[in-house]
Amino acid sequence: MIIGLLGLGTIGSGIYEHLLKRDDIRVKRILELLRHPGLEHLETSDYNEILNDPEIDTVVELIGGMEPAHTFTIQALKAGKNVVSANKLMFSHHMEEILTLAREMGVQYRYDASVGGSIPFLHNLMRHRSADRLVGISGIVNGTTNLILDVMQTEGRGFGDVLAEAQKQGYAEANPSADVDGIDAECKIAIASTVAYQRYVRPEDVDTEGIRNINAGDIIHFKQQGKVCRLLANSVLNGNGSVCAWVEPTLVAADSTEAAVHMNNNTISVTGEYFGVQTFQGQGAGKDPTAFAVELGLRDILEGVPARMNPIPSGYASVDNRIVRHRYYLRTKAHPGVPVEEKLGPCGDKASAYITESMTVRDMHDLAKALRESDPGLFFAGIRD
Ligand code: HSE
Repeated sequence: MIIGLLGLGTIGSGIYEHLLKRDDIRVKRILELLRHPGLEHLETSDYNEILNDPEIDTVVELIGGMEPAHTFTIQALKAGKNVVSANKLMFSHHMEEILTLAREMGVQYRYDASVGGSIPFLHNLMRHRSADRLVGISGIVNGTTNLILDVMQTEGRGFGDVLAEAQKQGYAEANPSADVDGIDAECKIAIASTVAYQRYVRPEDVDTEGIRNINAGDIIHFKQQGKVCRLLANSVLNGNGSVCAWVEPTLVAADSTEAAVHMNNNTISVTGEYFGVQTFQGQGAGKDPTAFAVELGLRDILEGVPARMNPIPSGYASVDNRIVRHRYYLRTKAHPGVPVEEKLGPCGDKASAYITESMTVRDMHDLAKALRESDPGLFFAGIRD
């Protein structure tokens, strides 16, 4: 296998280093704007050198972001090359176009590395759904926010301080607001739900809330409730065929599986009607775990392991977040405007914390948008009983 590598950032340099130890996969060209000592003979700033090289059969896209990653991917598939990528943002917004084109061209688009890093989650979803009806996914799919929440709650360190550490370790996105505001998790649950339910789930249909506004006062309240906060991505296939899909900080029991997931680790559970619940756990972010997942995609192509994406999804899911409901923790300076079960007391500057009565995901996310007009620092978290 001869590959053209797009990007030599954290993951790109990881896969390059891994492949140096292999003799059956060779990196022939690297698309990079910067020059790296010793690699100048491989590096180019002109993508056409990769696209028009008949010897290069596979493109590894690790530039991330929307453009030019999308254009380069389409061009590579149209040129009859396989593409292996960890780009959840771009892929989640162009799933139908990419999978349809790959099938038309008789090549593979491998995105195993886009959700869960080193955890063989998507691969197993693809297998499982062939013999069972998958009805739910839930878990921690963003390493950066898990590190931030874990360290804030166990060591009492500040948000910005831990985010800087995640950036240094190479876990955070180029623009870390994608992590902190839940966008990365939103893209991942859209991809995983599409694989599981065989209907395209659009990222923009996922109700998403991040952890940007969590503060030390919130954490005191969580501890008093015997809870730990984790950012969970969830989806459910409803009995009527519609899908609920949402990402939100969630208060889980201190002895739950998710509470025991520390640092940059991920955990994802899938529910099938026959096999019940299965939980996968491991490193979901960082140079080597993600490079490992990219290499698995390359090896599968090399060894003829099918992508299992046939048949590709048929149509788009109808997403309706008015079916799932639970109680919420809400900290705001504004009047909550919904029935509350308990007022927990003051929390930070002029704000109070409440436990709401059970309400739908849709209603809570709409309520937060409305209250933020007068209280942009509001924080809320779902409560898992
Ligand atoms: N920024 C992502 C994370 C990288 O922290 O999980 C892995 O997708």
